[in-house]
Amino acid sequence: MSTKQIGIIVGSLRRNSFSRAVAKALTSLAPENLSLRIIEIGDLPMFNQDFDEDGNTPESWTRFRNEIKALDGFIFVTPEYNRSFPAVIKNAIDIGSRPYGSNAWDGKAGGIISVTPGSLGAFGANHQLRQPMVFLNVLMMQQPEAYISNIAEAVNEKGEVTSERTLDHLKNYLEAFSQWVNNVSAS
Ligand code: FNR
Repeated sequence: MSTKQIGIIVGSLRRNSFSRAVAKALTSLAPENLSLRIIEIGDLPMFNQDFDEDGNTPESWTRFRNEIKALDGFIFVTPEYNRSFPAVIKNAIDIGSRPYGSNAWDGKAGGIISVTPGSLGAFGANHQLRQPMVFLNVLMMQQPEAYISNIAEAVNEKGEVTSERTLDHLKNYLEAFSQWVNNVSAS
């Protein structure tokens, strides 16, 4: 089975982000046939259609679009902001979806892991994020779902996920995602 290239998109730019801690844990738990790496989105200027139309496309947009196009799939690791997903993720989605007719996300496999120090699993962020991705023709894995609550208790002061339960959960998620990417690639 060929190795699939998977990007991880983190929805927080915060230095001590729990979401980034989960993303880093994923990279160390990758099954054999997945190569996982974080795709940075913090340097993407806010979407403005004029940049493309005026021939002033920011270099970081081009880098990001090319990175997404080269992937077989991606996993969003998102916190929840006010019962939705953060603007940095929406900005990245919109940039990847344009110029019109050049949707970098098209036909790829997608997954979502939502993370919160609270107790509701960032359900709102998780489900709202599905909406634009379905529109952009991303094949989103439906099961298993991944809602990670009480994340502060699973991460140490160095920003490492240390909870065996959480690590097991992430490992199982990745195994299912690996199968999902293979199914999407074969279809
Ligand atoms: C939050 N937080 C939050 N948490 C949650 O479970 N549901 C929510 O709707 C919100 N809303 C919200 C809005 C804004 C603007 C901020 C800054 C925060 C708390 C959030 O889960 C917490 O700050 C996490 O630590 C953010 O994720 P990172 O940065 O640790 O990855």
